[in-house]
Amino acid sequence: MKDSLLEIKRNALEAIERYNDLDKINELRVKYLGKKGELTAILKGMGKLSKEERPVMGELANTVRDAINDALEEKTAVLKEAVLNEKLAAETIDVTMSGVGMPQGHFHPLTQVINDAKRIFNGLGFEVAEGPEIESDYYNFEALNLPPDHPARDMQDTFYINDKVVLRTQTSGVQVHSMEKMNGKLPVKVIAPGRVYRKDDDATHSPMFHQIEGLLVDENITMADLKGVILAFVHEMFGPDVKIRLRPSYFPFTEPSAEIDISCVACGGKGCRVCSHTGWLEILGSGMVHPNVLRAGGYDPEKVTGFAFGMGVERIAMLRYDINDLRLLFANDERFLEQF
Ligand code: DAH
Repeated sequence: MKDSLLEIKRNALEAIERYNDLDKINELRVKYLGKKGELTAILKGMGKLSKEERPVMGELANTVRDAINDALEEKTAVLKEAVLNEKLAAETIDVTMSGVGMPQGHFHPLTQVINDAKRIFNGLGFEVAEGPEIESDYYNFEALNLPPDHPARDMQDTFYINDKVVLRTQTSGVQVHSMEKMNGKLPVKVIAPGRVYRKDDDATHSPMFHQIEGLLVDENITMADLKGVILAFVHEMFGPDVKIRLRPSYFPFTEPSAEIDISCVACGGKGCRVCSHTGWLEILGSGMVHPNVLRAGGYDPEKVTGFAFGMGVERIAMLRYDINDLRLLFANDERFLEQF
């Protein structure tokens, strides 16, 4: 038995020494130390030995097993180290190489216009107000001096939820909400950006679009205040050389009413295709708040006056960024959006 043990040890150590392959080394472990391995087989024969021989052989078997085990572990460690070194050598890292850039997003052009408008009007002392997009007929029409069957309702035919509830056709309803909230206090000085809905759909009209409403109610407000505020806004939004002009118009909720034009941003006012050779571009509707609207908001038209205006955000964006089809703003095509 002693000879067998020593032979196993010699063979095992020699084999471990010879092979330089992790799989092979694992095979050797099984071959010698595994449950069905050679050493185990011999140990099973221990029972047949005499009482005196058994501890001696037992000890020898232990040293043989330890020696084989040590040799296996040492070789495994050496081989693993070699594999790692090989990997590291292959994997050179060039620390001077430039990194992979993360594409940076930005705001949608409509959001940019709205944010800029908020900033500009905030600077002029206006607060940002909000109103519901699902609006009652009362706030969208009646309180704005458009009683049922008023012919001006036709211009803004819309999506009715039921007889009394509509998707708002304009942000003007926020005028009345804001006055009610102020509860008679002065001044009422708000802008209200938001989505509105109408039954239109072509290159310059979308069934959903954005407006920014403005309202200033106080003592002694005149059209000169309206003109000054709009001029300041236009200079910030389009540049200091842009001029404005007021054209008489009609809106049920203002009296007098005016459309406000800016000098053409494409030709500077000389006349071109963009401005239909007039030199002017319409950008908003405005006027002095109608007494009936002031009353609907809880204010006395004998004591206070106010001006209001409403502009289309898409139109401002199209003029500012030279966009010729409004539908591009809603197509969410990155090739378009990344230009702004
Ligand atoms: N709400 C009008 C529209 O959608 C725009 C407008 C005109 C708003 C005159 C106003 C205003 O506040 O005074 O066409």
